Amino acid sequence: MAYITGKWRQALHLEPPQGWMNDPNGLSFFGGYYHVYFQYSPDSAEGAGNKCWGHYKSRDMLSWEFTGTVLFPDIAEDKDGVYSGSAVGSGGLLHIFYTGNVKEDGEHDYIKSGRGANVIHVTTQDGEEMSKKEILLRNADYPDFCSCHVRDPKVWKDGEKWRMVLGARTLDDKGAVLFYSSRDLSHWQYDGCDSASDFGYMWECPDLFTVGGRRYLGVSPQGLPHGKAEYQNVYQSGYFRYDGELMDFTEWDMGFDFYAPQSFAAPDGRRLLIGWMGIGDIPYKNPTTALGYQHCLTIPREITADKDGTLLQKPIRELSRLRGKRAELKHGDSAELPLPFELTAEASGDFAIEIDNSVTLEWQNGLFEMRFTDEKVGGGRAVRRARLPDCTDIKIIADKSSLEVFLDSGRAVMSSRLYPENESVRVAIRGISAELFSLNGMEVKYLGE
Ligand code: FRU
Repeated sequence: MAYITGKWRQALHLEPPQGWMNDPNGLSFFGGYYHVYFQYSPDSAEGAGNKCWGHYKSRDMLSWEFTGTVLFPDIAEDKDGVYSGSAVGSGGLLHIFYTGNVKEDGEHDYIKSGRGANVIHVTTQDGEEMSKKEILLRNADYPDFCSCHVRDPKVWKDGEKWRMVLGARTLDDKGAVLFYSSRDLSHWQYDGCDSASDFGYMWECPDLFTVGGRRYLGVSPQGLPHGKAEYQNVYQSGYFRYDGELMDFTEWDMGFDFYAPQSFAAPDGRRLLIGWMGIGDIPYKNPTTALGYQHCLTIPREITADKDGTLLQKPIRELSRLRGKRAELKHGDSAELPLPFELTAEASGDFAIEIDNSVTLEWQNGLFEMRFTDEKVGGGRAVRRARLPDCTDIKIIADKSSLEVFLDSGRAVMSSRLYPENESVRVAIRGISAELFSLNGMEVKYLGE
């Protein structure tokens, strides 16, 4: 296993040492460690080959160890991929639930026939060594209205019971979620489903969680029609307010690179969210692919609720421990800044920030825009917009090859990869005064391979 280095290697984001990464999986705090599993194709930067689970762990989310590949497709029920899933701690064990993907030989569309989608359960004491695989649910256990696209179990505790939500595509091409419950984590019963009218053909990576006493259902819908400032990417992800019925859907992130997030509870009760800083089937490029690796996860975000129930996202406070030198920039200033850095500013009117002479971030007339003016640096990314009637503040976390932009207390977020020529970039600002900190990188150790 090689660890590929280079100027675009992130300092604050988890990446694969080589090969391809997609969804975060099994996010949990267990046995004194944060566990971040992820969809992993170690041998292909394009994501070819069967998906496995890679594993990172950390005591503080600042210093990480990559312990290697911990779940492989090695039984008939997951022979074509250990797909996404989740983890919960119980009885001294971490219980992992994932989708075993199976593609049968023969003439199939792999939507209505030819695909097995098994919910599989394993346990681990240390997060790395896995028990024997237990098959919990097979296609025959799903309701008759489902196609063979059923996957991504998210499990949580609800009083005396355990609950599971699965993402699904119905036979008439509607995205849906299925609910199951269990008393022992091994026997599951179907409790019902939910869906929304005209809202895509498939919902991936569902996540039911509570913030500030309110319930939310996160999903990653595929097949929404694109708009000027909404649903701009090939696939979307966001959350419904969920008060027994699905209410207004809000996108998690309006940038170019965000999909399939998962939330979990930190030991101090914070609800944290990590997304894949990437999306499948994108029309733009990530030039690390030519070097032998691709994609990263977002920085963990703390999720809180506004008075009206809108969720606010901000980078975890732990990150401020990485702060180094402080600087200030005023309206009309520009400076050359080494990556990574953090920029924070309050806003009282229109403003603009230019980074690396390649990307402009601008808020005016109730619209925030991220626009790449350099095709190479953006890898073909052009423009993304967010409607934001007010914008009282902005925070940017700029890493070696990414930007995460938090707007108006985290009411809107925009994440993007970018590939600057150098490891420092020119930052120019208009309409605001900004406080800047250089950031030290996280510590990442590569063990196990
Ligand atoms: C989302 C997804 C999941 C699936 C996994 C496979 O990106 O398509 O639905 O489990 O990726 O890698």
